[in-house]
Amino acid sequence: MIKRKNILKIAIDSPAAAGAGTLAKAISKYYNLIYVDTGKAYRLIALYKIMFPKKFNLKFIKKKINKLTLKDFNNKKLLSDEIGTEASLIAKNKSIRKLIHTFQTKLAYNPPKKYNGSCLDGRDITYKIVPDADFKFFITANTKTRAMRRYKELRNLKKSISYNDVLKSIKNRDKNDYNRKISPLKKTKDSILINTTKLSKRACFLKIKKIIDREMQN
Ligand code: C5P
Repeated sequence: MIKRKNILKIAIDSPAAAGAGTLAKAISKYYNLIYVDTGKAYRLIALYKIMFPKKFNLKFIKKKINKLTLKDFNNKKLLSDEIGTEASLIAKNKSIRKLIHTFQTKLAYNPPKKYNGSCLDGRDITYKIVPDADFKFFITANTKTRAMRRYKELRNLKKSISYNDVLKSIKNRDKNDYNRKISPLKKTKDSILINTTKLSKRACFLKIKKIIDREMQN
């Protein structure tokens, strides 16, 4: 694998709806890093499963991943809660994970030249995809806060869903993600814990920026 030298690599893991995506986007913009929301790859495969149930096998998935670009992540259909739940089931499959990993590591270690580095967020980024990241964060918030944030997000997208259903699906996804055998969600010892429950988006961003700037000045 080609690895660009002297790039800044940031790895973030978090449970669903903890605010990691918003933060990672802001950090990426500020430090001019390519941002990869790795969950979108699992969501995309989940969408393919629903769209092409008869064709859905490893060969088909491989073909799709080979053609994958970050533009595919903009598909609005990927944002629904059903797709999120299906993605967390697909994410238990070792062979599918392997295919997606190749796509992710390429972007992490060899981002396009116009970027100073990469920032990936997901569930296994800090210990599997970018284990030698310059900065590792574990971003979390309490379950009810996460459910309320996701509920508001879905309501803004005009999705009709109740808060209780969102809460149930967040709990279900946590169960899948924390307990699965392959690449479970966990906070590694070398990750910095950021609890966003009582922090505004701006406050979270400044907290992370302070950590990065302090280290880079040394
Ligand atoms: O982050 P997001 O909610 O979009 O992720 C959807 C699902 O994809 C997660 O619940 C998780 O099961 C899976 N995922 C994963 N590894 C990643 C990113 C996401 O297993 N690096």
